[in-house]
Amino acid sequence: MRDRARRVLSQCARIAAFTEEPGRITRGFLTPPVQDVHAHLSARMEAMNMTTRVDAAGNLRGLWRPAGASGKRLLIGSHIDTVPNAGAYDGVLGVTLALEWATMAQDRKLPVPIEVIAFSEEEGVRYGVPFLGSRAVAGTFDPALLKLRDENGVTLEDAIRGFGLDPDRIADEALDDDVLGFLEIHIEQGPVLEAEDLSVAVVEGIAGQTRMELRFDGYANHAGTTPMNMRRDALAAAAEWMVEVETTARARDGLVATVGRIAAEPGASNVIPGSVTVTLDVRHLNDRIRTRVAKELAASAAAIADERGVLVAWTTKLDQPSVRMDDGLTALLLSAVDDAGFPAKTMASGAGHDAMVMAARVPTAMMFLRSPGGISHHPAEAVREEDVEAALKVGVKFLERLAAQVR
Ligand code: HGY
Ligand code: MN
Ligand code: MN
Repeated sequence: MRDRARRVLSQCARIAAFTEEPGRITRGFLTPPVQDVHAHLSARMEAMNMTTRVDAAGNLRGLWRPAGASGKRLLIGSHIDTVPNAGAYDGVLGVTLALEWATMAQDRKLPVPIEVIAFSEEEGVRYGVPFLGSRAVAGTFDPALLKLRDENGVTLEDAIRGFGLDPDRIADEALDDDVLGFLEIHIEQGPVLEAEDLSVAVVEGIAGQTRMELRFDGYANHAGTTPMNMRRDALAAAAEWMVEVETTARARDGLVATVGRIAAEPGASNVIPGSVTVTLDVRHLNDRIRTRVAKELAASAAAIADERGVLVAWTTKLDQPSVRMDDGLTALLLSAVDDAGFPAKTMASGAGHDAMVMAARVPTAMMFLRSPGGISHHPAEAVREEDVEAALKVGVKFLERLAAQVR
């Protein structure tokens, strides 16, 4: 098993080299390095006698149907896009582990068809809206999204066409009913498993998230000649509001709120910023609390802007409810963890995942691996070889149990 674990990790290192920015890992939706990732993974899939294809939303899909196995297939996968300056494991580990699970099923001649999916877009970086790949597979892709433009003005539609795919066929990519369920394996991206010194955990549910974009419009003016009481400083208004965001989040258990990106115009040191765009990311397992806080923060932005003679407008880019994993598939996964000799730990996920989109369409379960240092969305993101080996041992037990059910 240790050799398999080493192969999983070397695959992650190999895929990390496919980046938009030499020297750091950045791989946006359908950017050129994604072609390299597809070529690398397709070669691996074809060597495993999988049939492969890239679907109209840019998801790479590899299907292995064992001779004589006519039953429904298990989907295993995660995403291959990254945040800017990312780590090497967020998403990608779930794809390389999925392929290793598939080889173990093949070696054991288990009668379980497996489709491995490398989702094209989970982070929502290029178009501000996440889960574009898994929405197409789950059949929940809204064609209106095709009009979204990235920071260079390229529409989602043109990005798909530019990659050699046909966006008109996205609706055809929705899953058929020939599916047992979907399983996502992912790094925890937080501190819990390390604090409890555990290799793996089974995810019970994924916190909902609200993503918004706000634009404060004041009045650009000369930094040297405009008295403080005559300013309509968009950046000062946004800054006052950002402190309010943090104060609100600190006051509520289980709530996290983040302003991840800010852009001030015209962006010169001697000009009072006339307009500022910021993003807001609010998460909580309880959807009522999350949506109420998002509304409160929008209202406080309006009050601060009004006080300062500044305008503010906002758009909600994502309102993703919390999602509970499938009881049956989760129970099977928990028994496999126990069978493999690991504590049957369950936990919630603060990070969003394709699993929360797939759960709307098929029974879905999720397993975490420990994140050393609790670090993610950062080059220091890591994973331990022993924990990858643990995930492989769980995989054998899971697949054997599943095979016993379908025999
Ligand atoms: O942002 C998230 O929750 C995930 O890592 N994309
Ligand atoms: Mn991820
Ligand atoms: Mn991520």
